[in-house]
Amino acid sequence: MKTQPSVLDTQLKHVSVRSFLDREVSDDMLQQIIDGARRAPTSSNMQAYSIIVVRDENTRLRLSELTGHQKHVAQAPVFLAFCADLNRLGVATALNNQVLQSSLETFVISTVDAALVGMNAMTAAESLGLGGVMIGAVRNHPKEVGDLLALPTGVYVVFGMAIGWPDTEQFPTQKPRLPENLVVHSERYDASGFEAGIQEYDAQLSEYYGRKDKGQSGASWSGPLARGLSKTLRPELLRTLEEMGFKIR
Ligand SMILES: Cc1cc2nc3c(=O)[nH]c(=O)nc-3n(C[C@H](O)[C@H](O)[C@H](O)COP(=O)(O)O)c2cc1C
Repeated sequence: MKTQPSVLDTQLKHVSVRSFLDREVSDDMLQQIIDGARRAPTSSNMQAYSIIVVRDENTRLRLSELTGHQKHVAQAPVFLAFCADLNRLGVATALNNQVLQSSLETFVISTVDAALVGMNAMTAAESLGLGGVMIGAVRNHPKEVGDLLALPTGVYVVFGMAIGWPDTEQFPTQKPRLPENLVVHSERYDASGFEAGIQEYDAQLSEYYGRKDKGQSGASWSGPLARGLSKTLRPELLRTLEEMGFKIR
């Protein structure tokens, strides 16, 4: 009998997979992933999320287009859309003759719930030998993605996940993480090692990407990050999410 890896082994081996074999994910495996995902902790037991399971090829092709033509979205046999969901909570509230008040807090609650369920799904999939990659680019066109998946008001896709059997010939090596002392603090927040640690990490990522640009301007982690973060990311997202039923301000 095949033994399952421990949860910790699965976590320590995590890598995002973007190349998949032409092989189906069985209903049984998908069910196990969903079962694991649904056990995630959830704020006040609200379960303010929904998962849309997409197998249909045309829908996956359209999702690939809407997420910047990411080929792995079209290639993977399964796409899971992890949604923040206030719609069902609205129904539960109305059943009790009340009106749900959408707020920044309900936005955070539902978004965090979707993220926890999504991460559980990823670990479950990886523990079964599958691979996957989260797809935040669904937020490039949240309204179009919502329409494609028939989402009602009060539901948006936080991120998706392309899941399938990894193409072992193109299996990626693990991407290094920031040095531990930059992200884990003992008792109190300590930023004293940030500059040196970031330079160390830039050099490490340059090696990982096989690049020679270890100087400041071409820095492999902080460079692209600085170019991205010096602009407002997805500036229209606030307005779109408000149109989709999330009252954030
Ligand atoms: C919320 C979220 C959204 C992401 N969106 C995308 C995406 O749209 N396309 C993609 O190829 N990878 C995406 N990723 C994967 C990250 O790029 C990846 O996790 C990160 O570079 C670290 O690499 P690793 O997962 O292989 O360790 C996303 C990851 C997260 C957590």
